[in-house]
Amino acid sequence: SYGGDSTYASSSSSSVTETVESGSYSLDLSSYTPTTGSGTYNSHTVDYKLYSNVVYAADPVSTTYETMNIFVPTSVDGTSVSDMPILLEIGVGGYLSAAAGSTPGTNGQYAMGKGYVVVEVGCRGRDNGSSGNYYGVAPAAIVDLKAAVRYLRYNYTEGTFTGDVSHIIDSGGSAGGALASLLGASGNSTLYDSYLAALGAADADDNIFAVGAWSPITNLDHADGAYEEEYSSLEYSGSTVNSTVSSALISEFETYQNDLELTDKRGSLGTLTSSNITEYILEEYMEPSLEKYVESNGTSSAPSYATCAASSSSTYGYTCTFTFANYVANSIGTRGKSAPAFDAFFDITSSSSYYDTVVNTSCPAEALEFGNPSGTASTYSGTNCSTGSPRHFTDYTSEAMDDTDISSSMQTLVDMMNPMYFITNAISSGDTSGVAKYWYIRDGTIATDTSAYIIVDLATALENLRGTSYVNSWEDWGEGHNVETDPSGFSSWVTSSVA
Ligand code: DHB
Repeated sequence: SYGGDSTYASSSSSSVTETVESGSYSLDLSSYTPTTGSGTYNSHTVDYKLYSNVVYAADPVSTTYETMNIFVPTSVDGTSVSDMPILLEIGVGGYLSAAAGSTPGTNGQYAMGKGYVVVEVGCRGRDNGSSGNYYGVAPAAIVDLKAAVRYLRYNYTEGTFTGDVSHIIDSGGSAGGALASLLGASGNSTLYDSYLAALGAADADDNIFAVGAWSPITNLDHADGAYEEEYSSLEYSGSTVNSTVSSALISEFETYQNDLELTDKRGSLGTLTSSNITEYILEEYMEPSLEKYVESNGTSSAPSYATCAASSSSTYGYTCTFTFANYVANSIGTRGKSAPAFDAFFDITSSSSYYDTVVNTSCPAEALEFGNPSGTASTYSGTNCSTGSPRHFTDYTSEAMDDTDISSSMQTLVDMMNPMYFITNAISSGDTSGVAKYWYIRDGTIATDTSAYIIVDLATALENLRGTSYVNSWEDWGEGHNVETDPSGFSSWVTSSVA
């Protein structure tokens, strides 16, 4: 259960004891006294007010995590600023709990330099609690982030907060990128109402204006199939993965890809299906990525499987062509995860099933994220499995392990964690009001934490929803998982979006 008078021993490394009293936190920012500070951010001198450790819900479960630090610049290089756009930095990794950052992160420093309000937000995660009370499992993290957004908007309405709440931009990487995307896609959805009410969240809207997401580990109900679609030919830890599992997941993903009915932004391929999506990713993402890389590093920097030639008509001055298979085999080379990559077979016992041969030895972050909040610590053998009460969250793995599909309540939870659920609903209904207007999405071409199909489907669904000019998506050549190569570029993109 959530809220109420409780003492929790956090399982995080600092081992904090939290005492929370019901309804004891004011939702009024003016109940906090800000400190003042001054610093240099991206070569600008910024004076600011800082509201520290602001508890953003009236009935928090954890005052260690459900807090934020709010930096409100008052002047930049001597010129006063007010009512500026707000950057909400989400520091989550691995679907773990995250305390609010005490200083602006990389993007936050650029934002501070422009006089933007910077909010370092904390939230619960899958590691919180202990057997019988895992209070940070899904959907806790997104509920918390929504409560934080509502708090800002509520205090703006009350006149106690000076930030431009109609221009809230979030940012995050990996699991934090997934949450940044989810916050951006699920604005004002009633699905979270009971959870927000239990937290005593402020009564205000929780939609945001723009999203910055690096390598979002998202669309978890389709990520296993997308992983096989890209990496089935590669070995994991020196072994091939089970081909029955891999093929079944591929066929499931291809059905999903076809059902999405997304369209090519160039117009030449039309509807993106399982038979042309790979060509699309190659030509729209991977080849341009190498072309830009070659523009900076010369043709000799291109891998030998690629043919690159100068071309004055090409955006980056070069055309590079190669096959997707060569790119996967030579630039990626090995899988980062076994099959299924996310909803793994961690709990197999010694039955005679062929699945025995593909069992993971560690519980993946995602099965713990979808863990049972009131479950007991699992006794499955294997790394991490006892740090929570992990549950399967896909029909495929659930059937393979337990001969049953996931429950409808689990499906609801999975939907509540998937931005694609909200974006595809918005495409069907035509109601875009809950989906952030602007999106900046990045991944690296050699990242194997998730599949490029997940990243490209997310970007393409958003382009199909509102138009290509609202989505800035890119694969960085030669970069791995969750690498921000151009914070200045993100900052400029934010400035042009809010203009
Ligand atoms: C993260 C990375 C993963 O590979 C994953 O499955 C979940 C989260 C992360 O870095 O946050």
